[in-house]
Amino acid sequence: MSVASLVTDTLGARASLSRGLSVAFFTALGVLAVTGVGLAFSYAPSTSSAWASVYFTEYQLAGGYFVRSLHMVAAEATVVLGALALAVACLEGRYRGARQGAFFAQATALALALVACVSGNPLRWDNRGYFGFLTETNIAGELPGGALVRALMLGGGTASDFTLTRLYAAHALLVPVALGLTLAWWGRASLRAGAEARDEGSVGASGQPWIDVAFSLVAAATMFALARAMRAPLEAPADPAGSYDARPEWYFQSLYVARNAVPPAVQGVLAAGAPVLAAALVALTPRLDADPSRAPGARAPRVAPLLGLLGGVAALTAVGVRRDARDTGLTAARAAQHQRDRRAAQVAKAEGIPPDGALAMMRRDPVSRGEDLFREHCATCHRLGELAPADGKLTAPSLDGFGTEAWALAVLKDPDAPTLFGGSAYKEKMPSMVQPPKDAAARRDWKPVPEADLLAMAQFLAAEARGGATGAQARGAKLIKQRCTSCHLLRGETDDADGLGPELSGWGSLAWIRAQLANPGTAATYRAASMSPALDGHMPRYDDKLSSDDLDLLTRFVWSRAQKSAVRP
Ligand code: HEC
Ligand code: HEC
Repeated sequence: MSVASLVTDTLGARASLSRGLSVAFFTALGVLAVTGVGLAFSYAPSTSSAWASVYFTEYQLAGGYFVRSLHMVAAEATVVLGALALAVACLEGRYRGARQGAFFAQATALALALVACVSGNPLRWDNRGYFGFLTETNIAGELPGGALVRALMLGGGTASDFTLTRLYAAHALLVPVALGLTLAWWGRASLRAGAEARDEGSVGASGQPWIDVAFSLVAAATMFALARAMRAPLEAPADPAGSYDARPEWYFQSLYVARNAVPPAVQGVLAAGAPVLAAALVALTPRLDADPSRAPGARAPRVAPLLGLLGGVAALTAVGVRRDARDTGLTAARAAQHQRDRRAAQVAKAEGIPPDGALAMMRRDPVSRGEDLFREHCATCHRLGELAPADGKLTAPSLDGFGTEAWALAVLKDPDAPTLFGGSAYKEKMPSMVQPPKDAAARRDWKPVPEADLLAMAQFLAAEARGGATGAQARGAKLIKQRCTSCHLLRGETDDADGLGPELSGWGSLAWIRAQLANPGTAATYRAASMSPALDGHMPRYDDKLSSDDLDLLTRFVWSRAQKSAVRP
C-alpha cells in the first residue's frame, strides 16, 4: 500500500480518534502504575507518618519530586483522556453491536480513574487533601444510606489512622485490581468486536496503528513536559482543629457548582443522582442509538443526552475554576495558607520531623502555633503584622515594633494615638511628654520634656526589652526614676500605690510579656486596677485559658515578631 493511500484511508471515515484517545488513556494508566509503585516504596499510611513520608519523597529522595509530579499529572490525564475518549466514542458510535461491551468497559475505567484520584489525594495528609476528603465524605453522608458510606470511607466516625489505611488499601490495591479486570474486559470485548467486524468484511483504517502510536507518544511527551513544569502539592500537615477553605479538585467542580446552585433540600438528591444519571445515560446510549443509519440528523437526538451531560460537566468545571480564580477572599486565604505551607517545609528541613509527626511539629513551632493563638485570642484587640481585628478598629495598642525604642518614644510623645492607647479604656490616663495638657491650670508650669531626655528613656526601655539595661542606659534609668514613678512602678517602687502605670523595669522583655499574658493584674506588669471592670475592654488574663506551654510559645512569638517589625501608623 502506498503512503498516499494509507493517508487517505486513515483520514477517511473509518479511522477512529476515540481509539487513539483510548490508547493515550492506557499510556497515562501505565505511567500511573509505574510511578505509583515507585511512590509506594516510600509511603507510610498513618496520621503521624503520612505527611513526613511524602515530605521525604518530595524533598529528600533523589528524583522523588519528579515521580510524584508525574503521578499527579498522569492521574489527571486519565480523567481528561478518559472523558474525551468516551465523548468521541459516542460521536463515532463506537458502541454498536459487539462494541457495546468495550464501551461499557471504557466508561467503567473512567469511573475507576476518578475513584483513584479521590482516594489518592488525601494520602499525603496535608490540609488540602484532608479537608477535600472530609468535604467529599460529608457529601457522601447526605446520600440515602450515606451515614454508612461515610463511616466506611473514614473507617469510623472521624478521620483517624484507619482512614489512611483504608484509603491506601483502596488506592494501591482495590482500584488497581479493579482497573486491571476492567482493562481485561475491555480488551476481550474489543477483540471480539474486531473479529466480528472482519467476519462481516469491514476492516478498520489501515493507518489506525499509526494514529494510536502517535496519540500515545504525544500523551507521554505532554505528561513529561507538564510534570517537569509543575510540582505535586504538599501543603502544611493536616490540622483537623484548623480552619481551611476547602474547594473540590477541578474534576469535582462541576458537581460542586451544580450542588450550590440548587436549594439545600435537593442537594443530597443531586449528589446521589448525578452518578446514577451518568451511569444510566452510558447504559442507555447504545440502545437508543442502535439504528445502523449513520445520518447525523437522525443520530443527534439519540446521542444528545450523554454528550450533553459530558459537555455540561465541562462547562460547569470551567465556571467553577473561573469563579475560584476571581474569588478575592479565597485568594487571600490561599496566600496565608501558602505562607503556612512554606513554613512547614522550612521547619521540617531545619529541625526534622519528630516521631509524633508533622502536626505535632507545627504545634510546637512558635511561628505557626503562635500565629494561630494570636489570631484566635489576641487579634480581636491588638494588631501584629497582618494579624489584626477584622474591622480594623484597635481597642489595644498595635504590637508592631513593641519593645523597640521607636515604640517607647511614640508612647512618650502621644500615648493616645489611635495605634496606641487611643482606642482603649486607657485613653487620657497617661499624659504626653511633649503636648501641653488640656487643663489651663496644669498648662501654666508645664514644660515639654527635652527630646534628648525622651531618647535616653526610650533607649533604657528598649534595652530592658532586649534583656536588660546596662550602665550605658544609666541616664535614662535615672530620668525615669525622677519623672515617671509618680504613676509607674520601677522595680516595684512607686509613689502611687493604687495607680495604673505599669512596671517599667523589664518592660517589653520575654518575662514581662509572659507575666502580662498570664495575668495583667499582678503588678509584675500592670496592676490590680487594670483588671477592674471599670476599665472596659481591659486585657484579660490567659493563665486560666491557655496551657503554660502555649503561653511560653505565644510570648516568644509576640516578642520576636514585635522586635523584628517596625512601628507603623
Ligand atoms: C479585650 C482586648 C484584649 C485582648 C483580647 C488582649 N489584649 Fe493585650 N492588652 C489590651 C489592653 C487594653 C492592654 C493595655 C493594658 C491592660 O489592659 O492590661 C493590653 C496590653 C498588652 C500588652 C502590653 C503592651 C501594650 O500593648 O500595652 C501586651 C504585650 C499584650 N497586651 C499582649 C496580648 C496578647 C499576646 C494577647 C492574646 C493572648 C492579648 N494581649 C489579648 C487588650 C487586650
Ligand atoms: C500620670 C501618670 C503617668 C505618668 C506620669 C507616666 N505614665 Fe506611662 N503610663 C501611664 C498609664 C496609666 C499607662 C497605661 C497606658 C495608658 O494609659 O496610656 C502608661 C503606659 C506607659 C507605657 C506603655 C506600657 C505598655 O503597656 O507597654 C510606657 C512605656 C510608659 N507609660 C512609659 C512612661 C514613662 C517613661 C514615663 C515618664 C517619662 C511615664 N510613662 C509617665 C501613666 C503614666
